[in-house]
Amino acid sequence: MDFPSTFGFFLSIILVLLLAQADQSPFIYNFCGQNGNYTANSTYQTNLNSLLGSLSSPGNDNGYGFYSSSVGANSDKVNAFGLCRGDVKADDCESCVSQASDPLKKACPVQKEAIIWYDYCMLRYSNETLYGIVTTFPAVFLSNVQNVSSPEEFNRQLKLLWEGLITEAAAGGTDRKFAKGTNTTASLVKIYGFAQCTPDLSPEECTQCLDAALEQIPLFSYGKIGGNAVAPSCILRYEIRNFFYPTSEASAPSPQLETPASPSPPPPSGKKNNTSRNVIIAVTIIVSLVLISLAIWIYLRFWKRNRPPEEADEVMSAEALQFEFESIRVATHNFSEANTLGRGGFGAVYRGRLWNEEEIAVKRLSRDSAQGDVEFKNEVLLVAKLQHRNLVRLLGFCLERNERLLVYEFVPNASLDQFIFDPIKREQLDWDIRYKIIVGIARGLLYLHEDSRLRIIHRDLKASNILLDAEMNPKIADFGMARLFNIDQTQGETSRVVGTYGYMAPEYVMRGHFSVKSDVYSFGVLVLEIVSGQKNSSFCHEGNLEDLLGYAWNSWKQGTSSNLIDPMLRTGSRTEIVRCIRIGLLCVQQSISDRPTMAAVTQMLTSNSVDLPVPSQPAYFMYSHGIGSSSDMSLGFESYSGLTGSDQSKSHSAHKPIYS
Ligand SMILES: *[C@@H]1O[C@H](CO)[C@@H](O)[C@H](O)[C@H]1NC(C)=O
Ligand SMILES: *[C@@H]1O[C@H](CO)[C@@H](O)[C@H](O)[C@H]1NC(C)=O
Ligand SMILES: *[C@@H]1O[C@H](CO)[C@@H](O)[C@H](O)[C@H]1NC(C)=O
Ligand SMILES: *[C@@H]1O[C@H](CO)[C@@H](O)[C@H](O)[C@H]1NC(C)=O
Ligand SMILES: *[C@@H]1O[C@H](CO)[C@@H](O)[C@H](O)[C@H]1NC(C)=O
Ligand SMILES: *[C@@H]1O[C@H](CO)[C@@H](O)[C@H](O)[C@H]1NC(C)=O
Ligand SMILES: *[C@@H]1O[C@H](CO)[C@@H](O)[C@H](O)[C@H]1NC(C)=O
Ligand SMILES: *[C@@H]1O[C@H](CO)[C@@H](O)[C@H](O)[C@H]1NC(C)=O
Repeated sequence: MDFPSTFGFFLSIILVLLLAQADQSPFIYNFCGQNGNYTANSTYQTNLNSLLGSLSSPGNDNGYGFYSSSVGANSDKVNAFGLCRGDVKADDCESCVSQASDPLKKACPVQKEAIIWYDYCMLRYSNETLYGIVTTFPAVFLSNVQNVSSPEEFNRQLKLLWEGLITEAAAGGTDRKFAKGTNTTASLVKIYGFAQCTPDLSPEECTQCLDAALEQIPLFSYGKIGGNAVAPSCILRYEIRNFFYPTSEASAPSPQLETPASPSPPPPSGKKNNTSRNVIIAVTIIVSLVLISLAIWIYLRFWKRNRPPEEADEVMSAEALQFEFESIRVATHNFSEANTLGRGGFGAVYRGRLWNEEEIAVKRLSRDSAQGDVEFKNEVLLVAKLQHRNLVRLLGFCLERNERLLVYEFVPNASLDQFIFDPIKREQLDWDIRYKIIVGIARGLLYLHEDSRLRIIHRDLKASNILLDAEMNPKIADFGMARLFNIDQTQGETSRVVGTYGYMAPEYVMRGHFSVKSDVYSFGVLVLEIVSGQKNSSFCHEGNLEDLLGYAWNSWKQGTSSNLIDPMLRTGSRTEIVRCIRIGLLCVQQSISDRPTMAAVTQMLTSNSVDLPVPSQPAYFMYSHGIGSSSDMSLGFESYSGLTGSDQSKSHSAHKPIYS
């Protein structure tokens, strides 16, 4: 067991999520404990329900937004904490705490312990004692992705602000440990910040928790315009805009204690004695003892594989951000025609430049999603966590004025279709580049299918959804759209076919069945297109209009696969190219089980020693031919039955590839 080293770095192995302006996005994050489950209808469950039902009642409130209570005895005892941000008005505090319990129980239906953070409050329960215990794990770090203009100066000022706030919060007394303040940099940027601990901690423990959090801030939000560190025992946050709770004389919380040593006056509603509370037990424990017991405690409670795997390796892995509509409007010149990169099935895409010069691509979604704002936001946060060099990165979103925008990194070299289907530009893609593109797409898809925590089926993989960066590395665009549009991902069957004719696997077109193997099919079509430089739909060989897959299959059968190779490809190993054709054919097999997984494809591509199965006739003949001539027709949300109907021309006109 390596727990003694845990304390040193546990804070650094933490999720960094990003959620900017959290006041519009109340839910921050939650964790379910890993130290055990209770059984249905057990005493523990009954106690938990009764505890959560009563936690936010005035009796459990210390008058300063801190709720603490326990129900039950021995192994069925449940303890809970609710803590509001120190500047939040009492009414909002109470409703924040009481409204947090349902989502938390839903998120962690059987776990004995759980925690959820909102912008205004947090709620936490456990079978272990909470009172007087410093807990810095699990923690979530959030950072605004936008940079400040002079980070060094900004950081100096921020540091001064923190020093003051942490001291003030720690000295806040036994009722409230909260301090907020502002400081202004030499270039007149005003920084707003607050620091808070649960008031059950001693001043030393509070400082310890806040210092640990502060230590991490430069790691995840150095030079950023906002950052937020939330741990069970303490919270730090700063922004360059006023995110404080609006103050009004009448409703403000009771003033700061003048003399922390004297007992504070009870709030007007009358405070019961906290008979259920334990006495603070840790006050006199020396720091080293705290460190050791803390490390053990952390190890036992949360350490055991509590973190989602793909975020764990990189502190900065996932970021998302709520952008302000106004800044996007300015960045895209009011969504001007000149800034339009393209229009896809989900809405138009605009190029933009933020005030800090960062280039972005903004997708303005059509509002035909039935999804509510909260679900949408949650999905965005999940999708934003998917990060891979072969995926276009989602930087954030905007939900304002009935608009839904997704903000992506800008990828400079447009999309693959504009190269491989262009008689002139095609020549710039030699075999090395094409091979790199094929392997990159395979890796990106493999990540979506298997390596990310969410299994994402792309459903609309095609050349116009592959963007190329400055070094011609491929980046898959438009993944996660099914999630963002609330199209059922779990059923594996759908009445809404989302995809592009020519790339869609037959079982998906015909019956709405989709799976990772339908993406494999689309990948196969893409590989054959990249090798041949031909669009499936307009494939033309020696004057014969023939289907690309049919032609690829026939040449493979006759041992003349090299006829398929783009004549502009003058370099490159023929063996390697023919191997790719074979892999492409394997991916478009009619039988789903004959198609390899993306993991197998990646292996085949990167190791010549892997033997390839022999392909049989691909599924190309499954298509009916009456649908129209454009294989690039984006179906958007037309249902399959609408495919052959009069919607066709409409869909067709909207098919322009993204990023044209
Ligand atoms: C508790 O329940 C969760 C969700 O059902 C499960 O994943 C986990 O393995 C369970 N833990 C234990 C210790 O039984
Ligand atoms: C809390 O539950 C866990 C798992 O069931 C158990 O190991 C632990 O001893 C319990 N703690 C207390 C204080 O009962
Ligand atoms: C728990 O109680 C509910 C209602 O009394 C009952 O419907 C359910 O079947 C019980 N579950 C178990 C696992 O006993
Ligand atoms: C912020 O600065 C970093 C480092 O200079 C850079 O990599 C990043 O792209 C910038 N981010 C934004 C949003 O401008
Ligand atoms: C703001 O910065 C100044 C130094 O520039 C410092 O003296 C002051 O304490 C800071 N204010 C706060 C609230 O920390
Ligand atoms: C931006 O566009 C909206 C309509 O799309 C228009 O009402 C508004 O006046 C425009 N603003 C500017 C500054 O052009
Ligand atoms: C890709 O983009 C980079 C940077 O914009 C540019 O220098 C390069 O020429 C582009 N490559 C191609 C093949 O267009
Ligand atoms: C390729 O396009 C043709 C239309 O030209 C179509 O009939 C055929 O089914 C397509 N093949 C595939 C595999 O999509």
